[in-house]
Amino acid sequence: MMVSRLWKMKEKGEKITMTTAYDYPTALLVEKAGLDMILVGDSVGMVVLGYENPVPVTVDDIIHHTKAVVKGAKTPLIVADMPFMSYHISPEETKRNAARLIQEGGADAVKLEGGREVAPMVKALVDVGIPVQAHIGLMPQRASVGGAFKVQGKDVETANAILDDALELEDAGAFSVVIEFVTAEAAQLITKNLKMPTIGIGAGPYCDGQVLLSHDLLGYYESQPPFVKLYADLNKTITESFKAYRDDVRASKYPGEDHTVYMDKEEKKKLRG
Ligand code: KIV
Repeated sequence: MMVSRLWKMKEKGEKITMTTAYDYPTALLVEKAGLDMILVGDSVGMVVLGYENPVPVTVDDIIHHTKAVVKGAKTPLIVADMPFMSYHISPEETKRNAARLIQEGGADAVKLEGGREVAPMVKALVDVGIPVQAHIGLMPQRASVGGAFKVQGKDVETANAILDDALELEDAGAFSVVIEFVTAEAAQLITKNLKMPTIGIGAGPYCDGQVLLSHDLLGYYESQPPFVKLYADLNKTITESFKAYRDDVRASKYPGEDHTVYMDKEEKKKLRG
């Protein structure tokens, strides 16, 4: 999918759908379900690699997972996350890292977190033809500086400050912006004042589209952030399946006749012992 299609969807008031995928089978299923965009998020650090936050995730990690996702999903726009410190040091390094996500990983676009301070990096990428999705509001890569996991835009001043950031990112050429864990009113204000589509996560119903982590909406873990709606309970299904398998093996119920292959009778007679 081309990024211009997302702008048309915003113009027509059609909601944009996005989720995360980090592997081939999930990408196949997202494709089958017909979602518009897939994010190979640095959330892979927490939900797949077991880190506490996304800070340790590397460009190589994202490339590795993007390659698998690209094989499974041909229709959705695939956005690869730029990890912590991969777009801060210089426009040159930012371009080199983003180019790797596109060339080696096969992503269609990249996403990076930050307000007006990263606008020059957005511009540097857009100028060389790399589509950029911005990410404002709660920024998990800044978790280590404290207070990051709090709802943003609770008063008019902070709502306006987030809007000003978003406007600068749009001017720099971003094609869309993820708005994370922001009050519904702030997200509505931002959505109304931007030409580019806003994709909300925990940002209420007024954004142009929504993104949820696939692990969250599928209920892979026992608990999810409060803004997540559960569309499946994989945690329960998978745990019960593992237990049933364990019990079957222990009780010699698996493998049964249906899952077993035997030799021809004549061949069996020739077996030693
Ligand atoms: O890494 C990720 O999955 C994200 C989402 C929270 C939007 O950035």
